[in-house]
Amino acid sequence: AGRPDGGTLLAGRHLLVTSGPTHEPIDPVRYLANRSSGKQGHAIAAAAAAAGARVTLVSGPVTLPDPLGVTVVRIETAREMLAAVEAALPADIAVFAAAVADWRPANLGDEKIKKGPDGPPPLGLVENPDILATIARRREGRPPLVVGFAAETTEVIAHARAKIARKGCDLIVANDVSTATGVMGGDRNSVHLIGRDGSLETWPVLPKDEVARRLVVRLAALTTTP
Ligand code: CTP
Ligand code: CA
Repeated sequence: AGRPDGGTLLAGRHLLVTSGPTHEPIDPVRYLANRSSGKQGHAIAAAAAAAGARVTLVSGPVTLPDPLGVTVVRIETAREMLAAVEAALPADIAVFAAAVADWRPANLGDEKIKKGPDGPPPLGLVENPDILATIARRREGRPPLVVGFAAETTEVIAHARAKIARKGCDLIVANDVSTATGVMGGDRNSVHLIGRDGSLETWPVLPKDEVARRLVVRLAALTTTP
């Protein structure tokens, strides 16, 4: 039984996904952001919903439509994203596909910064919370399956392997986002799946929708109790 395009692989599961960039205000009219279209994260949310999961998508500012059958929580900053993720728990599976800004401008006040004779303002930065690491290292209420992404421009696999250990997640989807690949903002993705045990699987270049569907099949297999 089930629906033609995915059916019931994730029926009864709650899947939490982060997607898109975060925007970190500099002043009321300016922000610091990461480059991210949200296409891959939104595609994962859509594929999981099509596979029967209850899906919560915590999304930064994107121009994409809300995926069908998904609860979408819109946020702007990394700190808002963390709060929304925590509010959405418990989840059976959490997939952190967002391109979170690593830093935010130190509080510069409520008024627009004006140009002046003193030149550019000094932009002090402070580090944002690491949402993936915070959730993956929770003692209570950690989702049983925590998946991170790694956006790399060089030594993709080595950097991703270091990340899985540092962040405490179960699986990393590493993608090569060097500009030549066209992954950033494009419709196709080139990914490697890296497991906590060091396992490595390289997928062919595929449309982001297809990467999402295959990932859903994998997540279902990893959460199925024998
Ligand atoms: N991530 C997160 N919160 C942050 C930074 C990253 O949840 N503040 C998540 C991303 O959603 C992704 C994973 O961590 O799933 C890896 O993000 P990435 O930017 O590749 O790793 P960083 O640890 O931030 O390292 P760097 O940017 O220095 O490569
Ligand atoms: Ca980062």
